[in-house]
Amino acid sequence: MVAARRSDRASGSRAGATIRRAVADDHAWLVDLGGRVYNALGDYRVILPSWLEQPGVLTWLDADGGRRRGFAMLGFYADDAEQAVCDLLALAVEPLEQRQGIGGALLRHVIAVAERVGPAHAIRELRLTVARDNLDGQRLYRAHAFDFAPVAATRYASGQEALRMIRILGREAP
Ligand SMILES: CC(C)(COP(=O)(O)OP(=O)(O)OC[C@H]1O[C@@H](n2cnc3c(N)ncnc32)[C@H](O)[C@@H]1OP(=O)(O)O)[C@@H](O)C(=O)NCCC(=O)NCCS
Repeated sequence: MVAARRSDRASGSRAGATIRRAVADDHAWLVDLGGRVYNALGDYRVILPSWLEQPGVLTWLDADGGRRRGFAMLGFYADDAEQAVCDLLALAVEPLEQRQGIGGALLRHVIAVAERVGPAHAIRELRLTVARDNLDGQRLYRAHAFDFAPVAATRYASGQEALRMIRILGREAP
């Protein structure tokens, strides 16, 4: 009974919703949302605009009509070893819109993009960092076939530990 209600809510919340590329008009909202949800990690009102300017950064929005609800940001770049990398730089949903499947839908979208473009650019994995105490985020990523990478934790500007998770590309989705 509970499961049926939950599934109804999930499909209802997606009705009319679309995932589209972010445009310049979306940037102020996107930076504001990132600034709010990542407040404990650092000053994302400064960090996000600098990422948005990078040519290898692509951003998608979940919007229900004119109502923007969440975004996902992918970065394509070469790491220190000159290996091409695809990095999920940010995934954020408006606090009042969370737990309706929006984060999962955005995550599936960026995974599909990485799966599509990765092989042509010798990109073997989609990576991300997540705060050690962000158990909700980690659970979402694990449910989408991300595993913890065996590398040392780094730190966010705030000092919180950042764990790396990776999803190997070229495998079938769970
Ligand atoms: C992490 C984050 C992006 C998840 O977004 P979200 O839209 O809440 O994600 P989903 O709704 O797809 O899934 C979250 C949970 O809600 C559940 N859910 C999905 N639809 C639901 C529904 N209709 N009713 C009830 N629960 C639902 C999912 O099963 C999942 O449950 P679980 O945590 O027990 O596994 C969001 O919480 C967020 O923006 N957090 C702040 C920023 C952040 O931490 N980002 C990630 C790290 S970089």
